[in-house]
Formats: sequence, C-alpha cells, structure tokens
Amino acid sequence: HAEARYRAIVDTAVDAIVVIDRVGTLHGFNRAAERIFGYAAEEVMGRNVSMLMPDPDRSAHDGYLKRYHRTGERRIIGIGREVTGQRKDGSVFPLELSVAEWKADGEVRFTGIVRDITARKTAEEALLAAK
Ligand code: HEM
Repeated sequence: HAEARYRAIVDTAVDAIVVIDRVGTLHGFNRAAERIFGYAAEEVMGRNVSMLMPDPDRSAHDGYLKRYHRTGERRIIGIGREVTGQRKDGSVFPLELSVAEWKADGEVRFTGIVRDITARKTAEEALLAAK
C-alpha cells in the first residue's frame, strides 16, 4: 500500500521532514523532526513553522511566505540554504534546509527537509582554527 510505504520512509528518515501549508501552519513532523527539535509531533501540529527558528527569521517567516506567493521568486525552494534552527529547550543549531512545493487536492504544501549540521560545522571550525 502506497500510504504505508510512504509512512515507513518518512518515519525512518534520518533528516527532519516537516510539512506546512501556504501560511506556514505545520501539517507534518516526522520522528527525526521530534528528535532534532525536541518537540512531540502533537505539540507542533497546527502551529506556525516559525516556532522552529530564532529571530530575526521567526518574526519574518510569514513575510517570506507572502513574498514568495506574491512574486513566485524562489530563494530556498530547489536551492537550499544553511540557516539556524531553535529547539524546544531554546538552544539554537545550524541546519541545512531544502524545500519542495507540491499540491494536495489543490492546496499548496511545502515539504522541508532539515539536516542538523552541528557536527559538520564543528569539524569545519576546528579545521579552520588549525590552519
Ligand atoms: C523562506 C528561514 C524552515 C518553507 C525562507 C527564508 C528564510 C527562511 C531566511 C527567506 C529566504 C529569502 O528571502 O532570501 C527558515 C529557517 C527555518 C525554516 C531559519 C528553520 C527551521 C522552513 C521549513 C519550511 C520552510 C521547515 C517548509 C516546510 C519556506 C518557504 C519559503 C521560505 C516555502 C519561501 C520560498 C523561497 O524563498 O524559496 N525561510 N525557514 N521554511 N521558507 Fe523557511
């Protein structure tokens, strides 16, 4: 069954998989997202994705979505970006974000894949400091 296969893939993914609608309301939060951000899925469903990031992006993210709907200009979708996330305990961490857009029954949805790159960043900084 396609739905069961889809769930198995999403639940076993190492990266966080987060689904939002056109205004940023959370509709999907896989197991890895629970581990990486420290929230249970039921705590975040129906809330704004901006809760997963610190300011200034937290206050600006609704505007980023509006700008995209107005202009159609992609700045992260299909490109990716290193940004900063915020966990439930308030700690911040570097992440690599990829975003894809799709439609469910005519409704716009965005799926974000979030990779915690704390280890990679620490290694990069250690290499730079050793130079
Ligand atoms: C746009 C930050 C998570 C969907 C943006 C932009 C920033 C940003 C800075 C604007 C880029 C620009 O205008 O130059 C963040 C941060 C996140 C995060 C810090 C940390 C958790 C997500 C997630 C999704 C998402 C999980 C989807 C599920 C979008 C979309 C846009 C956007 C659809 C507008 C389209 C685009 O610019 O290509 N975000 N975001 N974001 N973000 Fe996020």
